[in-house]
Amino acid sequence: MTEVDRKQDRAPVPTGWTYAPAPESRDIVRLAEGYGHFIGGEWVDAAETYGTIAPRDEEVLAQIGQGTEQDVDAAVAAAREAFANGWSELPGSERAKYLFRIARILQERAREFAVLESLNGGKPIKESRDVDLPLAAAHFFYYAGWADKLEYAFPHRQPKPVGVAGQIIPWNFPLLMLAWKIAPALACGNTVVLKPAETTPLTALVFCDVLRQAELPAGVVNIVTGDGRTGAAIVDHPDVDKIAFTGSTEVGKAIQRRLAGTKKKLTLELGGKAANIVFDDSALDQAVEGIVNGIYFNQGHVCCAGSRLFAQESIAEPLVEKLKKRLETLRVGDPLDKNTDVGAINSKMQLDRITELVEAGKEEGAEIYQPPCRLPEKGYWFAPTVFTNVAQSYRIAQEEIFGPVLSVLTFRTPEEAVEKANNTPYGLSAGVWTEKGSRILWMAQQMRAGVVWANTFNRFDPSSPFGGYKESGFGREGGLHGLEPYLRFEA
Ligand code: NAI
Ligand code: MG
Repeated sequence: MTEVDRKQDRAPVPTGWTYAPAPESRDIVRLAEGYGHFIGGEWVDAAETYGTIAPRDEEVLAQIGQGTEQDVDAAVAAAREAFANGWSELPGSERAKYLFRIARILQERAREFAVLESLNGGKPIKESRDVDLPLAAAHFFYYAGWADKLEYAFPHRQPKPVGVAGQIIPWNFPLLMLAWKIAPALACGNTVVLKPAETTPLTALVFCDVLRQAELPAGVVNIVTGDGRTGAAIVDHPDVDKIAFTGSTEVGKAIQRRLAGTKKKLTLELGGKAANIVFDDSALDQAVEGIVNGIYFNQGHVCCAGSRLFAQESIAEPLVEKLKKRLETLRVGDPLDKNTDVGAINSKMQLDRITELVEAGKEEGAEIYQPPCRLPEKGYWFAPTVFTNVAQSYRIAQEEIFGPVLSVLTFRTPEEAVEKANNTPYGLSAGVWTEKGSRILWMAQQMRAGVVWANTFNRFDPSSPFGGYKESGFGREGGLHGLEPYLRFEA
């Protein structure tokens, strides 16, 4: 034993330390009692409303409109008028100014939006503060840069805006998905009718205030709230030129069926069941961090979550041991506490779905591990979960759980890893952990997945396109590729 080791042996190491509460103040958020729809730059009262809640304690935060066909019709008309009367003819350099303004205002109001996102959606404040908000602003900055360079992006093709875009987004990254949708649409000269998810409408509604601050012309962005019925009205509206949808594979398929035979353009970003593949030569401690980030980030409410861990057999045991130890240090609790790692499950419905799939995993014969943790009494919570002894055929290895639940499988050879990893109806993302560069490149070519991360996971950048293979959807968001769905080409 070395001198240093012995010293460490004798050092008085405190074992029982816990973090003191470090709550972020919510006073910065000023909510109205209720919100209507934002149409043509004005607030329009909603005929029917429902309460949106904070999943951490089920507190009702505000009353939200359930958009009707008439509301959608008015929003589409406002978007059409704004498109025809100026916006689509504006020079790209002028459109860029609005996008830059929006980006700057989001940065200035970042703390307010981060708190609101965590309050309404349940995600840890450190994630909304350090990931959602910076990335949302970055997206607007990035597409502002393209607005006056479309001819260079698509030389000799005469890019033109498509018209009115109908955009339907989910509840896992509410403001970030709004940015992914609105920024490229506006950069290309389109106008927008956007519907946030029914459980997380608040950041989209407060964003309307940002639009006013940026003096964006009325009708360029319209926000209509409500559930799937409102979404369906947008999809079916005859004067919408393009639909962009992010959400479940089930609804994505239904939308594709409904649009068959129409002239509407469509992009779908749907579910996933990503493989995170760890080879025996990888740095195991780093891999553990990547696995944790891959599946427990945002409570696993991530379409590209690394929900299937493939461990090479020779290191499977030590890897899972390290992972279990690491899970003991994850802090589950109040999303507004700056030390929280895993926040609240977004909704009762999602909690029920996670619970059902976890029960199925137990029944099918997988072995469950959950670290000891005290879950709050009120609100929706689920402990970080690892399943071992998982067979390829189990539901927990096939279906998207969209919760903090990891299924561990093993493999012996790279070929076997490829075969098993690709054996799902999805193909959104994958992770590869190895020290060997040639293997990274080979694996990246073999994976039927839109994004392949090497020795990292869940990394995003606005300049990098994101999207799926197979039932994970089609079309790309981000990067140069993300402009194309919002353009038509005259040559
Ligand atoms: P969902 O697909 O029903 O909801 C996503 C959005 O689509 C929401 O804004 C919703 O109001 C809207 N919508 C629902 N039905 C519609 C319809 N018929 N026409 C047009 N728009 C419609 O997803 P849900 O029910 O919230 O979650 C179910 C499962 O879907 C989750 O457990 C998860 O596995 C998956 N999911 C995947 C997401 C992703 O990012 N890929 C996001 C959300 C859910
Ligand atoms: Mg649904």
